[in-house]
Amino acid sequence: MALKELPIHPLEFTEHPEQLIQRLIAQYGDAFAYESGHGLVYVFNHPDQVDAINRSANFVRTAVMTGFLGYGLLTNEGDYWQKQRRTAQPVFHKHCMGGFVDIINDASAKLVTEWQANEGTTGRVVEDCSMPIRFCTMEVVMRALFSTDISAVIKDWDHASQFLVNGVNPAFCSVLNKVPKPNDINLSTGTPKYAKYLDKQIYEIISKRRSDRTPPRDLLTLLIHSEDKVTGEPLSDLQIRDEIATMLMAGHETLAVSLGWAMCELASQPVLRDELTAEIDAVLQGASPQLEHLTKMPKLAAFFDETLRVYPSIPFMLRRAVVNDTIDGYTIPADGLILISPYTLHRHKDFWPQPETFNIDNFSLGKNKQHHNCAYMPFTTGKHTCIGKEFALMEGQLILAHILQKIDILGLAGAKPAVKSGLTLQAESPISLKIGRR
Ligand code: HEM
Repeated sequence: MALKELPIHPLEFTEHPEQLIQRLIAQYGDAFAYESGHGLVYVFNHPDQVDAINRSANFVRTAVMTGFLGYGLLTNEGDYWQKQRRTAQPVFHKHCMGGFVDIINDASAKLVTEWQANEGTTGRVVEDCSMPIRFCTMEVVMRALFSTDISAVIKDWDHASQFLVNGVNPAFCSVLNKVPKPNDINLSTGTPKYAKYLDKQIYEIISKRRSDRTPPRDLLTLLIHSEDKVTGEPLSDLQIRDEIATMLMAGHETLAVSLGWAMCELASQPVLRDELTAEIDAVLQGASPQLEHLTKMPKLAAFFDETLRVYPSIPFMLRRAVVNDTIDGYTIPADGLILISPYTLHRHKDFWPQPETFNIDNFSLGKNKQHHNCAYMPFTTGKHTCIGKEFALMEGQLILAHILQKIDILGLAGAKPAVKSGLTLQAESPISLKIGRR
């Protein structure tokens, strides 16, 4: 059967696509289609429907992000993707996680020291907490996966990568509705310059490593020793560059966005902040957080899970049908575009009793394994499940434990920002914090 086609004016999409989709679901149900200007977009919002899509080989990713990322793990499909996934997988094995703790703690300590600096007796304001958090997560990903210290150039790397992230937004929004916002177009104009800057830096990392006689055991070494499945040749510099660019972008921006929202909730909810701080203090007793501490801090884990429910870092995902198929009885023609939204799935009224309320009890002990796998899918499901999921959960909790152990988050300096979705779930205005030393 054909999906109901809704007449939506493209301009309705420009400001808050997540709210528009949410409103249409409330009005028309979990499955509908709309004309995007590129053809029909098919929206599915029931977890069973999304599960069927994620399990099927007939729906693949779109080429929206290939610009800077090239053909790395996040953008590829098919045999080459499978080979890439197999090459990278060992680094993300749970036995490797312990090796990343010191790196995460070092980067968190820098963040905390920076926030504590120049603070008067009444505390201070961190104008935009997202930027120092991004420095922290970017430093972690480059040290953990590529043994590369970028702290001396972190501002330049961040500046460049933010232009690239913002540059992708118009392409992404234009798939949703074909009408990018004027601001997005301006932002994207700096993209080639910043892409070139990062390219040069990444190629230097590769070239230095190729001449290293005692290379560290990390993802870069695995990639250098890996070979192309078809030709049997070693990976080219371009192929390795694509993997580094992919891990850099996928591995720092997503986590930084979620930690920014975590800060926003802690600043708005003093009772919750105090509960978490008490748990962390009782477990850590003043020590630096380690892997074994995390299992003893269930409230912290539930808090981070709930942050990713209310604020999924990737609010929308697009898939393309490779052949004619049906989902839940609805016909999808070959080449049809499918929109899946963790943002709206995480608010499905049949699966979340009070979806708009931030409540860590949604993930309290016993409940955290009960959710339908697609009613909660910040890392998606199926073969493209985020390879960095365990890493991200560990890193997020360690950074939060570090911050709460040392910093008193006194409140928001200004109004709570609204969400603004592009490729990642940004805040519409900076998340500014009032903080004090503990
Ligand atoms: C809170 C943090 C994170 C969230 C919410 C997140 C979310 C996601 C999602 C939803 C996807 C699927 C995208 C798609 O198929 O269209 C994905 C894939 C991916 N993520 Fe993450 N991610 C996070 C952290 C990380 C980290 C820390 C890394 C690496 C260090 C990473 C690396 C990747 C890669 C390489 C893929 C592609 C996997 C594949 O297709 O085989 N992510 N992530």
